[in-house]
Amino acid sequence: MILSAKHLSKTFASPQPLTVFSNVSLDANLGDTIAICGRSGEGKTTLLHILGTLELPNSGELFIANELATPQTSAELRRRHIGFVFQSYNLLEDFTALDNVLMPAKIARLPLNPQKGLQLLDEVGLADRASFPVKLLSGGERQRVAIARALCNNPSLLLADEPTGNLDRAHAKQIGDILLSCARNHNKTLVLVTHDEELSSLCSKRYLLQNGELMGSSS
Ligand SMILES: Nc1ncnc2c1ncn2[C@@H]1O[C@H](COP(=O)(O)OP(=O)(O)OP(=O)(O)O)[C@@H](O)[C@H]1O
Ligand SMILES: [Mg+2]
Repeated sequence: MILSAKHLSKTFASPQPLTVFSNVSLDANLGDTIAICGRSGEGKTTLLHILGTLELPNSGELFIANELATPQTSAELRRRHIGFVFQSYNLLEDFTALDNVLMPAKIARLPLNPQKGLQLLDEVGLADRASFPVKLLSGGERQRVAIARALCNNPSLLLADEPTGNLDRAHAKQIGDILLSCARNHNKTLVLVTHDEELSSLCSKRYLLQNGELMGSSS
């Protein structure tokens, strides 16, 4: 199993105590495509950050590729297994689109393969923007660079926070197809947060985060 979360809870201490969720469990196998829906502020981003080992839960356990994530193991588990698409992109503004896409390889001290980076940019329809600094790109273009970057190290677990939130229908459909086919054809696991009903309906499992609980959802 690539992802197994058991009884996660999260409470922020400041500026005032806020329990976002308690007792959230989620399992994902290779090839699963999972959509997490829910209203604004219900804790979807917080949950995805915890699943991606970017934030610690207050209680509960997280296993990535059957290994327990701890403060000591998290960075390495993330590097080896996880690609993350942030809701706010987190791109390096002064670097080019291509440099951003290759950044995970650079950080992991893996050999840089600009050809692979260009191919990923081509897949998201941005081959002709490879040498543009990110600060000159539109919101939807940044979103697509962030998706290409998440795929750079060929992660088995792809976590995407509203990956089509800033795209028009046509690009949303294209990006949704890329993410889903990536999971299905390459046996990766996709966990995405989305308000896009068309995209969530194409996922193999759907969950709703509401009132601090994660529930299986049929719609
Ligand atoms: N670092 C933090 N410290 C304190 N409170 C936080 C922190 N991060 C998030 N919160 C609070 O936790 C709640 C959940 O936030 P989160 O960003 O996970 O929601 P979300 O479901 O992703 O919302 P949206 O759909 O608008 O992106 C919010 O009420 C938010 O104010
Ligand atoms: Mg969010």
